Amino acid sequence: MCYVMQFGVKLLVLVSLQSAVAINWKNNACHNIFSYYFSAVSRNCYENDDVRPNDLPSISKRHGYDTETFTLTTGDGYELHLYRMSSTNTQTTKIPLFVLHGIAIDVESWVDIGNRSLAFNLVDGGYDVWVGTLRGTIDSNKHKTLTVNDPEYWNFNLDTITKEDLRIQLEFVANATQEKAVIVAHSMGCTLSFMFGSEYPDRANQLIKGLVALAPVVYLDDVPFTTSALLWAMPLIQIFKAFNIKGLLYHEKLVHSFETHVCKLLPNLCYFLVSTASGKTKQFAPEDLLLFTSYWPSGVSVYQLEHFLQISKDHKFQKYDYGTHKNKEIYGTENPPVYNLTNVQFPVSLFYGTHDVLFLQKNIDRLFNELGSSQKYKISVPRNAGPEYGYSHIDFLWSKNLHKFLYDDVFEKLDLIINDSKGPEDSEDSEYFEG
Ligand SMILES: *[C@@H]1O[C@H](CO)[C@@H](O)[C@H](O)[C@H]1NC(C)=O
Ligand SMILES: *[C@@H]1O[C@H](CO)[C@@H](O)[C@H](O)[C@H]1NC(C)=O
Ligand SMILES: *[C@@H]1O[C@H](CO)[C@@H](O)[C@H](O)[C@H]1NC(C)=O
Ligand SMILES: *[C@@H]1O[C@H](CO)[C@@H](O)[C@H](O)[C@H]1NC(C)=O
Repeated sequence: MCYVMQFGVKLLVLVSLQSAVAINWKNNACHNIFSYYFSAVSRNCYENDDVRPNDLPSISKRHGYDTETFTLTTGDGYELHLYRMSSTNTQTTKIPLFVLHGIAIDVESWVDIGNRSLAFNLVDGGYDVWVGTLRGTIDSNKHKTLTVNDPEYWNFNLDTITKEDLRIQLEFVANATQEKAVIVAHSMGCTLSFMFGSEYPDRANQLIKGLVALAPVVYLDDVPFTTSALLWAMPLIQIFKAFNIKGLLYHEKLVHSFETHVCKLLPNLCYFLVSTASGKTKQFAPEDLLLFTSYWPSGVSVYQLEHFLQISKDHKFQKYDYGTHKNKEIYGTENPPVYNLTNVQFPVSLFYGTHDVLFLQKNIDRLFNELGSSQKYKISVPRNAGPEYGYSHIDFLWSKNLHKFLYDDVFEKLDLIINDSKGPEDSEDSEYFEG
């Protein structure tokens, strides 16, 4: 109690000081959480231009990278941006990579931490980097006839995004490059890639050369975070649905502006919330705090969230569960069909963090064992540091020592995929695209 009061008084003093000192909001990045209280005057703080409002092409340009933007329209009318990145300083000598973001996060998360950003490092490594986007996020929130304010816009689940968004972007990359791409995905991006490999193995064989899966989400059996979400988030989702609220958080500018102001005023609280949602680790870089809140969260459908919770509840990697009656109509069975991971044949590297709130070793092992791939790897990140340094869910995107702890291993696995596919099989595959 005494501690709480002390903390309260400290907070009050700090907030008043902040209001007194920081008349303007200059300086939006600090080297430690505490300095945010004095960001306007602290020598530990600086102004970072990559904090909102920014889009991927403009951030990339500021750091010396060029972007080509394509707009693809899916079969069900969603207009998605697809970016191809390059640099005048580096020649593209390697295979195409298709970089895919996770749930409720903006694509800018791949380029927002300066020279630590994964997308920049992949371009520097000589890869032909394509960055995909998924419906509902700010880069891809247009539709032929609907707007994000229409509840029908949000009528999609993970099966839909796999079938439409992932497929069309992979096909576009294959058409443009006449090559298969290696997918580099985070979180839900991995979920979708595994769904695609299970559901469309023939297409996957023509389009996907391999998968680098960062913080993959497939099995969520007995994960405390989702098990408790089943108790509070699941009923909430049903209420939203009853009121015909199907899209969440899509007024991004508003959400991010509010979030950024709160985080600047109360950085400890903000950091506490971030680490509760993602996992508390030694890896978080305080200077990334407002970069994180600038690009997360992002528009999401209640069906996407519900789908993940169903997977957690039923201990099955399965299609969306509409309820017995409608399942029979749609699938012909009372229960939704299960995604058969034996069908996934492309090489897979699973990079997971032991401090990720969605991580349980048994679930990673189950996924690993069920994959049909003849080439598969499990890598706990970081590999060579102590267990106390294990990554959280977002450390894969925002953390301090990404080169040493993650990228070196990612590059090695990418090399392995390239080296292994230099066989006679490969020439057969490329014929497909010429036909
Ligand atoms: C990355 O950028 C920072 C400043 O933004 C600089 O100090 C550092 O030397 C750069 N590192 C590399 C490897 O270029
Ligand atoms: C890829 O090329 C095929 C054959 O030309 C075409 O039918 C298909 O629509 C193209 N797909 C995309 C996404 O551009
Ligand atoms: C999954 O597919 C494999 C063949 O691809 C088959 O042998 C196996 O029985 C399937 N498993 C399930 C649960 O359907
Ligand atoms: C891939 O091949 C290159 C050149 O042959 C070699 O230097 C590199 O060590 C190989 N990488 C892996 C991971 O096998």
